[in-house]
Amino acid sequence: MSRRKQIYEGKAKILYEGPEPGTLVQYFKDDATAFNAQKKAILDGKGVLNNRISEFVMTHLAEIGIPTHFIKRLNMREQLIKKVEIIPLEVICRNVAAGTMAKRLGIEEGEKLPRSVVEFCLKRDDLGDPLIAEEHIHAFGWASSSELDEMIAMTLRINDYLQGMFAGIGIKLIDFKIEFGRLPISNEDGVVGHQVVLADEISPDSCRLWDRETNKKLDKDRFRRDLGEVTEAYTEVATRLGIIKEQNQHNATILSVVSNDD
Ligand code: C5P
Repeated sequence: MSRRKQIYEGKAKILYEGPEPGTLVQYFKDDATAFNAQKKAILDGKGVLNNRISEFVMTHLAEIGIPTHFIKRLNMREQLIKKVEIIPLEVICRNVAAGTMAKRLGIEEGEKLPRSVVEFCLKRDDLGDPLIAEEHIHAFGWASSSELDEMIAMTLRINDYLQGMFAGIGIKLIDFKIEFGRLPISNEDGVVGHQVVLADEISPDSCRLWDRETNKKLDKDRFRRDLGEVTEAYTEVATRLGIIKEQNQHNATILSVVSNDD
């Protein structure tokens, strides 16, 4: 494990102090949790796969002009990122009814929504990340009006791009969760403002991804719902994205990385 100073440990990632001021190292663990950490497991190789998939997605989003915290991947489990102040919201975008929306509104899972829907949850583990209205965000000052407008606009652009990217490899993007941070903007007078940037990760841990033909789940629902073959599904996503050349070859790589890297 790294010798760097640990800043924060979450359920699936650890943040360490970075080599330069204003940077952090984001380490992807193999830990899987669901239902607010009531269900836990270690999935060998999951961290390696999410590091690679999130790198791939963030790099492509940067190419279409989405500002992100990602700087570069350092190794199989770590990436260098810009230090941001995380906005305490989980932004969820849905194209097809599933998960909590299907349950809450009594819609059959798999029903296409009339339009993409953006939802907000408050990032509070102790409260189970409750769904909130934009009114709450304004009233409690969790984000300013302009930050909220930017987050919504970026979320819809990300959704548009990712839907196309996954469609190209035979996968339907059902929904996803993203987080944003405030990146300080400085000049010779010091910090003069902040830019809203995409933070955290985008991976099969934070998206619902279904095979276009069979509706096979290729995401964390395999863990949540005890469907088995979780890392195999994540490996399939990475393989279809072209991150991994040969599935079998990669499984061997992951096993050797897991034993050498920790
Ligand atoms: O559970 P729910 O249907 O609200 O999840 C919507 C989307 O947000 C899913 O893709 C899920 O993986 C993601 N999510 C997440 N982290 C959470 C809650 C949801 O990544 N804490």
